[in-house]
Amino acid sequence: MERRTFLGTLSAPVLAACAVCMGACSKSASGSSGAVSANFTIDLSTALTSVGSSMVQAGVIVVRLAAGNVPASFTAVQVACTHEGTAINYNAPGTNFVCPLHGSTFTTSGAVTLGPASTSLKQYTITINGTTMTVTG
Ligand code: FES
Repeated sequence: MERRTFLGTLSAPVLAACAVCMGACSKSASGSSGAVSANFTIDLSTALTSVGSSMVQAGVIVVRLAAGNVPASFTAVQVACTHEGTAINYNAPGTNFVCPLHGSTFTTSGAVTLGPASTSLKQYTITINGTTMTVTG
C-alpha cells in the first residue's frame, strides 16, 4: 500500500477519535460553576459559635473565621467545587477550602490557590443583626 493511500484511510478515524477526545477534554476543563442564589438566615446563638466551625446550607458553606458577631468574622462561599461540583470542606488549620476529589484549594474568599479548578468560588454577602446572620447573593 502506498504511503499516501495508507494515510488517507487513517485520517477520518483519527480525526473522529480526536474530536471525541477534545469533547471529553473540553468538558473537564470547563467544569461546572455550581454557584447558587442564596437568601437564608442563621441563628448565631446556636450555630457557628466556635472559630473554625462551619456549616452547609442551601448550597453555601459558611465558616466562622474569628470571634465576634460581625460580618468580617465569617465567610460564605458556594459549597460546590468549580471544577466538577464536589462539595468542598473548610480546612481550619490551613484557613482555606479544600476539594476532596482532586485537591483544588481556595482562599476564604473563594479564589483558587491550587487547581485543577480554575474558577473562583462565588462569595456571598453576610449581614448580621444581633445574633441573626443573613446570607445573600
Ligand atoms: S471536583 Fe475536581 S478539584 Fe474539586
